Amino acid sequence: MNGFNAIAIDGPSGVGKSTMAKRLAKSFGFLYVDTGAIYRTLGLACYEAGIDRKDEDAVMELLPTLDIAIRYNEQGEQCMYLNGLDVSRKIREPEISLCASDVSAHPRVRSFLLDMQRKFARENNVIMDGRDIGTVVLPDAELKIFLTASAEVRARRRYNELKEKGSDVSFDEVLRDMILRDEKDTTRAAAPLKKAEDAVELDSGGMSIEETFGRLCEIIINRLAVSPEEKA
Ligand code: DC
Repeated sequence: MNGFNAIAIDGPSGVGKSTMAKRLAKSFGFLYVDTGAIYRTLGLACYEAGIDRKDEDAVMELLPTLDIAIRYNEQGEQCMYLNGLDVSRKIREPEISLCASDVSAHPRVRSFLLDMQRKFARENNVIMDGRDIGTVVLPDAELKIFLTASAEVRARRRYNELKEKGSDVSFDEVLRDMILRDEKDTTRAAAPLKKAEDAVELDSGGMSIEETFGRLCEIIINRLAVSPEEKA
């Protein structure tokens, strides 16, 4: 207990955690912290340095030489900086997703990055999303949410997004990638993706974005003594 409220949102890739967390943070006046972006930034650094990201020693040698920083711009959006450069867009490239997944499997890498994440919750009301927020990063969070949807539903949503952006990727490729990432994230030894015992589980599979958002707002209002500041 530090006087601040923390909401942890965990769940698999592509389930809409960041879309929800961003809107909820805006609506309730909390700071949004996207922890996947930290692993993505490290994944990008390994990619650019040409080091084997599956080699924990090599990643650990590189890590302390890097300046990885989270800053918030004037719109309140989280931006990632690597050695002083804004890499917020670059880290969203599909090949960086797999790099992020690989580097995030290393236990020493995860412990190194723990404090960077916890610091935000010590100083702000936060909504933090990731894979291990409720289980490892913020085990004392006032509210934990575990958001799920089947791999097919998540792949279909991602596929539609990519199509809209003009990508010529096939649905099967997107689904294969999604299943591969699920497999890596749930089977790794260090802080695998799993529901915290005291988390509220919400399956968004049959729900629209608005329905999911509405349900999450209800859960937050019922569980924490907070109310929305503005309509997101
Ligand atoms: O949420 P995302 O897709 O941006 O995450 C990128 C990768 O980082 C993903 O493969 C899982 C990993 N990750 C993690 O291990 N722990 C977190 N708290 C957040 C992300």
